[in-house]
Amino acid sequence: MGFNNNQRGSSPVVDFTRRKDVMKKIPIIIDCDPGHDDAIALAAACASEKLDLLAVTVVAGNQTLIKTLRNAKKILNFIGKRPLLAAGADKPMFRELLTAPDFHGESGLDGPELPDPADYREEPVPAWDLTRRIIMESPEPVTLIPTGPLTNIGILFTAYPEVKRNIARISLMGGSILAGGNRTSAAEFNILVDPEAADIVFSSGVPITMCGLDVTNKAFLLPEEVETLRKTGRVGRFLAELIDFYFGMYLKLGFKGAALHDPCAVFALTNPELFQTRNFHVDIETRGSLTQGMTLADLRPWTDARPNVTACLDIDRQAFVRLLYDAGALYG
Ligand code: RIB
Ligand code: CA
Repeated sequence: MGFNNNQRGSSPVVDFTRRKDVMKKIPIIIDCDPGHDDAIALAAACASEKLDLLAVTVVAGNQTLIKTLRNAKKILNFIGKRPLLAAGADKPMFRELLTAPDFHGESGLDGPELPDPADYREEPVPAWDLTRRIIMESPEPVTLIPTGPLTNIGILFTAYPEVKRNIARISLMGGSILAGGNRTSAAEFNILVDPEAADIVFSSGVPITMCGLDVTNKAFLLPEEVETLRKTGRVGRFLAELIDFYFGMYLKLGFKGAALHDPCAVFALTNPELFQTRNFHVDIETRGSLTQGMTLADLRPWTDARPNVTACLDIDRQAFVRLLYDAGALYG
């Protein structure tokens, strides 16, 4: 876990010399907009012995930046983790912000009451500065796990293109190949909020694992599975209470379970065997009157467009549910 030793001095922001024991793990940075399913992704990542969480950065998306930052602190504090934390963009690179109070409530994390840790302070630098420092100082290529709009990553790549050479992969939740949209008929929310940032990321040349709605709509928990998760312990109960709130909207939309989008981006890294994948060339529509924010996959068998994403299209749902039980149980 990244820790704050000396932000302003010449010493590295993360003391990698003290982390030899963890460096065989995959070094990651999660960029999120908590958000109920972001919270579950954070808990799953912190519970994994395969991942070394160097930092968490937050972005405006499900709710405003002030709220997503507050929610990140509450979630991490509740699960007993205090990674380096930095706030990023409070709006998309070139557009006004869209939020999702219908799914996540006015706070962005409606449902369980959590203490607000006044002593958990975010770093005094924006997300992209912290992310650049960590990436450039890491002895191992870093994997980014964005689970919200891609604004912070778009700014990072624009301001500091040199970071790309020490990024192993981006495992993101966003878009869709054949499943259409959720916020509009064409666009999934994370991409629609900031299509220009998504275009920068998808055309960056950095390897991308894309967990779009094709797979995340299949990554749901049934009511009886939420009850099993609730019994796994203190954090399992917290995750179940998040789903209790979040479930309501999905039931209204006719889903038989609560689709947990963001944990897929974590499990695609820790347990790729759960997923069926295929490589595609995907472009981002930034101008269409009806299709803005669409992730347009080139499905032509004869295309000569170079694939830029490995898209997850299907998941072993029972194994996904078991991973969530294991994560809940790990915290005791
Ligand atoms: O479309 C689902 C995505 O939008 C998830 O990341 C959810 O948290 C919201 O950000
Ligand atoms: Ca999210």
